[in-house]
Amino acid sequence: MKIINDPIQLQQYLKEQNKTIGFVPTMGALHEGHRTLIQNAREQNELVVVSIFVNPTQFLEGEDFDKYPRKDDADKKICELSGVDVLFFPNAQNLYFEDEVKIEAPDVRGYVLEGNTRAGHFSGVLRVVMKLLNIVRPTRAYFGKKDAQQLNLIQQMVKHYFLDIEIVPVDTVRDANGLALSSRNAYLSDKQRQEALKISASLYEAARMIARGENDTAQIKTKMVEILKPLEIGYVAIVNRDFNPVTVAQVGDTIVLVEVVCGTTRLLDNIWL
Ligand code: PAF
Repeated sequence: MKIINDPIQLQQYLKEQNKTIGFVPTMGALHEGHRTLIQNAREQNELVVVSIFVNPTQFLEGEDFDKYPRKDDADKKICELSGVDVLFFPNAQNLYFEDEVKIEAPDVRGYVLEGNTRAGHFSGVLRVVMKLLNIVRPTRAYFGKKDAQQLNLIQQMVKHYFLDIEIVPVDTVRDANGLALSSRNAYLSDKQRQEALKISASLYEAARMIARGENDTAQIKTKMVEILKPLEIGYVAIVNRDFNPVTVAQVGDTIVLVEVVCGTTRLLDNIWL
């Protein structure tokens, strides 16, 4: 596995290979969810590139940028064992410029749900993803459905900026109890991990209600809030695949989303129906 830090060097190297490229951008602290993204990329492309960069511009003032888990050595091992060809390890100095031209999150969709509680977060995400996609120029780039709003905004960016890249959504990986895997789960105590199971329980109940024919999203959300208590709820939302809120759930076009704060940790999850 080749490890490259410099964006220009990586761009040059990949151009010379002249192969289809599957790209998995990450912030490190890799878990089974990331391994699934890598596996998909491995199966569908000749070359697999993973980036590891804890992107400062997507953390707001007072968030966990400094304490975000950094596990470079373990991550390198995981990449090697997963058949990654190139690991891109940039730093803020070689990725960002003084007074640079910025990509911004859209005015409405970038500032609802996750973007409401974390105003500006998605501008930081889109900024770095635009850079990474332009450096790697992948054939396909892989993103988890767990960050559904991020995935939707990246799909919008690729469309609005006419990037010739296929964005591949990949299913969420859960532990045996149903907790969606996330690098931030490392912050949870055993008790909080237990409490966090209410999140997937509420989503499974939403799925059951919809399967039984209940399509009134107000009723579904009320039931979910009951299940989530006493967790601090950021939002419970039901949207269509375009991320517009819906009053009537429709199988094939519905995403049910939850954000809770467990202790001081913000946890996201969703289910696509
Ligand atoms: O989902 C993530 O890990 C990050 O938001 C991403 C897409 C790598 C951008 O920093």
